[in-house]
Amino acid sequence: MAHILGGIFTSHVPAIGGAIARGQEQDPYWSPFFDGFKPIHRWLATARPDVAVVFYNDHGLNFFLDKMPTFAVGAADSYHNADEGWGLPVQNGFKGDAALSWHIIEGLVEDEFDVTTCQSMLVDHALVVPFQLSWPGGGQWPVRIVPIAINTVQHPLPSPKRCLALGRAVGKALRSWQGDERIVVFGTGGLSHQLDGERAGFINQRYDQFCMDNLGPDPDALTKISALDIVEEAGSQGIEIVNWIAARGALGEDVAEVSRNYHIPISNTAAATMLLESGSTALERAA
Ligand code: DHB
Ligand code: FE
Repeated sequence: MAHILGGIFTSHVPAIGGAIARGQEQDPYWSPFFDGFKPIHRWLATARPDVAVVFYNDHGLNFFLDKMPTFAVGAADSYHNADEGWGLPVQNGFKGDAALSWHIIEGLVEDEFDVTTCQSMLVDHALVVPFQLSWPGGGQWPVRIVPIAINTVQHPLPSPKRCLALGRAVGKALRSWQGDERIVVFGTGGLSHQLDGERAGFINQRYDQFCMDNLGPDPDALTKISALDIVEEAGSQGIEIVNWIAARGALGEDVAEVSRNYHIPISNTAAATMLLESGSTALERAA
């Protein structure tokens, strides 16, 4: 049985990658966001995960509007980043874990999630930026990855309820894995933001607060409204919260909040970072 240690939840704004490339982490604009990762660095140093299961959304790098899977799971032994048009330096590749990916895929299909399987997959800023934030200093990634992409781009979008169920099914599959890998789960994107259209720049602090307050203790509360209602509440890109919801589902029932940071704005986004530790990890720590 894999050991699910906890979850890292963070915005994935591409401009963060630009700030890292320019060494601006401690500039006044950026430090209120980057400082939110200090507790995560401390936690990762003791948690020492082997594998990261990453719920994120592709923004047109690996999938485009012509072929858009609702849920896609990487099943490769390596993954690459590529230039997606933001002008960010291309980051080092990532090791995968195809055997664990296939185990998760089998569990998901068994649980009636008919996912797309990807034996090759490019990963965009939504995976790369959270990794640069979590393991700063030069693009060495100490974990193998299982990327799980959720469509947040092309309507119809999956319901938040279905995304939570997907995450729970991934958690169930991890608990039935034969190995004893130490797993960290990522949920990336959000919080409220809208990049274009009449409401470009839209941010909803009240909704963001509701999401952060309920994510740990009552994730089902985030699934009471439809994907379209989330677009209304959080903006057309704020729907990326479904990646957080799915990641939360994978953590199991009991979690403890270790840290939280919320800062407006980073680029067009209400930038947020949270760390939830899974119940068993919290108990072990207390013992
Ligand atoms: C921004 C935020 C995103 O989530 C994204 O994918 C691209 C851009 C932004 O705020 O600039
Ligand atoms: Fe995004």
